[in-house]
Amino acid sequence: MAGIRRDEVHGTGHDMSGSHADASNMFSGKVAIVSGGASGIGLATANLLAELGARVIATDIAGRPDGLGRTVDFMSHDVTDRDAWRAVGARTVAALGHVDILVNCVGVLSEGNLKTTSLAEWRRVIAINVEGTFNGCQAIIPLMPPSGGSIVNMASVSGSRGDANLIAYTASKGAVVMLTREVALDCARRGTNIRCNSVSPGVVDTAMIADFFAARPSATLPEWLASQPVARTIAPAEVAELIVFLSGPEASFVTGADFPIDCGASA
Ligand SMILES: NC(=O)c1ccc[n+]([C@@H]2O[C@H](COP(=O)([O-])OP(=O)(O)OC[C@H]3O[C@@H](n4cnc5c(N)ncnc54)[C@H](O)[C@@H]3O)[C@@H](O)[C@H]2O)c1
Repeated sequence: MAGIRRDEVHGTGHDMSGSHADASNMFSGKVAIVSGGASGIGLATANLLAELGARVIATDIAGRPDGLGRTVDFMSHDVTDRDAWRAVGARTVAALGHVDILVNCVGVLSEGNLKTTSLAEWRRVIAINVEGTFNGCQAIIPLMPPSGGSIVNMASVSGSRGDANLIAYTASKGAVVMLTREVALDCARRGTNIRCNSVSPGVVDTAMIADFFAARPSATLPEWLASQPVARTIAPAEVAELIVFLSGPEASFVTGADFPIDCGASA
């Protein structure tokens, strides 16, 4: 995509021109499902995979967003609904034959500590963040060729670091890191070449973060960023670049690993 600024494609504000100058067909013939593809990191990942030649199905509980690339297909579903996951897999295989790449990008952020978090809220966050990821792996891995496939799960810097006021979210993301390792080892021990990794961002400039700080007058984004070694937000497209690397042939040796992308927050 020489000559095209990546931020024109993704609206990120970060100049990433020419970084895939010779890679526009890198994912040609590959089929990718990206959950949470209507917003933020999922949207940027779906668009980048499509830009690099993959057939991409973005899924989300919300409707198809304007920013999704023309070549990206879209399906509505709730990641907590196992039948809906099976339907996404069945429709994809009926249309495209198989699935090579799964990006479990759905997640919800929830503020609260041990005292203030209700059991209902705890269960909602675990159901979406952990069970949604488990459901995706369980429904889609059987549709991948044993000779090669990639799963990338969205964890978070909160998956390895406490906050004191994000109890359900941090617990859910820690679980995603370990779920990822289990899936990776299981796929390897069954003799498949299906890899599974997780990505752990810091503060990414998405609706999730905007909504969080809008509802939290006690803290501000600049205060949060000041606690990071590199005090800036991360663009969704920057996280998409890491997800795409892990999904591609250049990471064929990488499985069972978690990758911080957090401006040094976990260093
Ligand atoms: N933004 C950050 O700073 C940040 C940091 C670390 C990790 N993450 C993780 O990255 C992932 C993407 O976050 P984002 O910032 O792009 O969020 P986002 O809010 O922009 O997008 C999340 C998407 O998930 C969808 N969704 C929510 N519940 C769903 C459900 N039950 N079924 C299907 N879709 C559902 C939403 O409609 C939305 O489109 C999440 O797992 C999040 O926890 C984000």
